[in-house]
Amino acid sequence: GGHTAVSLFYVSHKIYAGKPGLAGLPATFGDENACETLELFCEDPVLGLKVTLLYTAFSDVDVITRSVRIENDGEMLYLTKALSFSMDMDNRDFTLLTMHGSWARERMLEHRKVKKGFMGVESVRGESSHQEHPFMALAAGNADQSQGEVYGMHFVYSGNFIGQVELGQFDTVRVGMGIHPENFCWKLEKGDSFQTPEVVLVYSDTGYDGMTHQFHELYRNHLIRSEYKDKKRPILINNWEATYFDFNTEKLLSIAKKAAELGIEMLVMDDGWFGHRNDDSTSLGDWYVNEEKLNGGLKHLVDEVNKLGLKFGIWFEPEMISPDSKLYEAHPDWAIQIPGRKPVKGRNQLLLDFSRKEVVDAVYEQMCQVLDQGNIEYVKWDMNRNMTEIGSPAWPAKKQKEVAHRYMLGLYKILENLTSNFPNILFESCSGGGGRFDGGMLYYMPQTWTSDDTDAIERLKIQEGTSLVYPTSAMGSHVSAVPNHQVHRMTPLNTRGVVAMAGSFGYELDITKMTDEEKEEVKSQVELYKNIRSTVQFGDLYRLKSAFNSNEVAWMNLSKDGKKAVVSYVKKYAEPNVIPGRLKVKALNEEALYEVIETGEVFGGDELMYIGLEIGELTGDYQAKSWTLRKID
Ligand code: GLA
Repeated sequence: GGHTAVSLFYVSHKIYAGKPGLAGLPATFGDENACETLELFCEDPVLGLKVTLLYTAFSDVDVITRSVRIENDGEMLYLTKALSFSMDMDNRDFTLLTMHGSWARERMLEHRKVKKGFMGVESVRGESSHQEHPFMALAAGNADQSQGEVYGMHFVYSGNFIGQVELGQFDTVRVGMGIHPENFCWKLEKGDSFQTPEVVLVYSDTGYDGMTHQFHELYRNHLIRSEYKDKKRPILINNWEATYFDFNTEKLLSIAKKAAELGIEMLVMDDGWFGHRNDDSTSLGDWYVNEEKLNGGLKHLVDEVNKLGLKFGIWFEPEMISPDSKLYEAHPDWAIQIPGRKPVKGRNQLLLDFSRKEVVDAVYEQMCQVLDQGNIEYVKWDMNRNMTEIGSPAWPAKKQKEVAHRYMLGLYKILENLTSNFPNILFESCSGGGGRFDGGMLYYMPQTWTSDDTDAIERLKIQEGTSLVYPTSAMGSHVSAVPNHQVHRMTPLNTRGVVAMAGSFGYELDITKMTDEEKEEVKSQVELYKNIRSTVQFGDLYRLKSAFNSNEVAWMNLSKDGKKAVVSYVKKYAEPNVIPGRLKVKALNEEALYEVIETGEVFGGDELMYIGLEIGELTGDYQAKSWTLRKID
């Protein structure tokens, strides 16, 4: 009738053990022992609209998830806004924490006092984005890193989102999160339904550290599905910053050979192996091997890499199409664009219309043909432009505003098919670095390339922001060459190692060009990481000094059984005339003794927590140090 209104009334409810999947969408999961679900059935009798509010409470973590299922049992209507949750709270002098950024500067933390009016985060770029993040936290009163109450909210979705906070007239706070209503309008005929993605709601009474632990636990145990969920992630070397597009079989094998000698476990061949792609202007969509570069073919390369004892990984950017490609010649209408308008290109490319099944199927076929050619054990799934000027010839005018969400459903479908067809492959998502680091992607791909910025000092903030929500195992972090390619900074190899070891570790440089001394250092870094890998990837993360407000940055990973800890410290700028400082650690047992593996010294847990580790003399800028602690039984 042209009106915009809905009024829902309680009809009934049910409560049961376990958690249902959300059709076509990524979502947290848990068996009958792990969680309990409440379904609240409501109805708008005027519209004939049936709405189910789905709540799941987990038993091993302080988490409730919420999503909404909408079914139309009345006349045709348009759904113009469907958030996944909305909640009213008393104002408790809240501070809102959000994450913002840009390409190469992802997930910078922003704290704002909640004041009267609207605040929030949003993206209408067709992805969770570099710029904003589908995450908000409300910290009550004087809550900080280690104490106080924090409520975290995170959207398990990779497309457009909005997160809203409003302090209203009676000093109450309304928070909500869901699909962004801009460019969204879903036609519901009688009998049609719509499922919103879910929001994860986390409670912590031990500050931001506690919130992080809840998110990490939940995502490691109830979101990541891959076989790699609990498996140690291989130490990889990626050729992107080593060669960019200029490589061939011989060059890759020379890198692989050196990498194998130093203990690295996997070679990843990045962009440029397909079509006639020698720069970023062509060939996306033509996923067949360029045999001029890969002389001998893909299988030969994979076999040779395997013979050296390394796994092999490969890069794809499956959602894209270059206007200069065979695919575009054959199917110009497969690119998302508005008829009659010259499409804007991003990195010389357009987005494939993943709202169409035939497009998704064709890309899937091409990928399978490549992946079936050899023993490929890792895929980096990249995505390097945003969604703009959304138009699809496959849908009538009244459904054009469904395309952005239908695109996400198409993306999730292909990821579902690929990950189930290739369960042994470790998938890593990427979007110009960390432009689509989100819970939706994490469901299919257990790790993400955190940022295209590989500078160790820049990474301190990027990784701290990212690790607030995402498990360290999910954060791809690599040592790259100096001067750094993004900021041209010189940092010691040791510092680059300490910082990259905060996540899933690897290298992103031409190892054949390193000096013998540097190669020796790489060898010991690799050895060290193998020793601390389980603690870093699967332990609990504690922030000791934040990169956002201090010249010194420190963090610590504590194994689940509390027997092993890795403490990492970076001092950005040297200071004159100061005495060497101490670094207090957290969460040890006061009564127990701990050995510092590097020096053999033994300290009480209380000494390490209340007096601290001696940092010792550090000379020059950008210095780092790490300690491995072993609890003495
Ligand atoms: C993106 C990724 C990089 C690299 C390039 C290749 O920018 O983030 O790591 O794969 O694409 O073109």
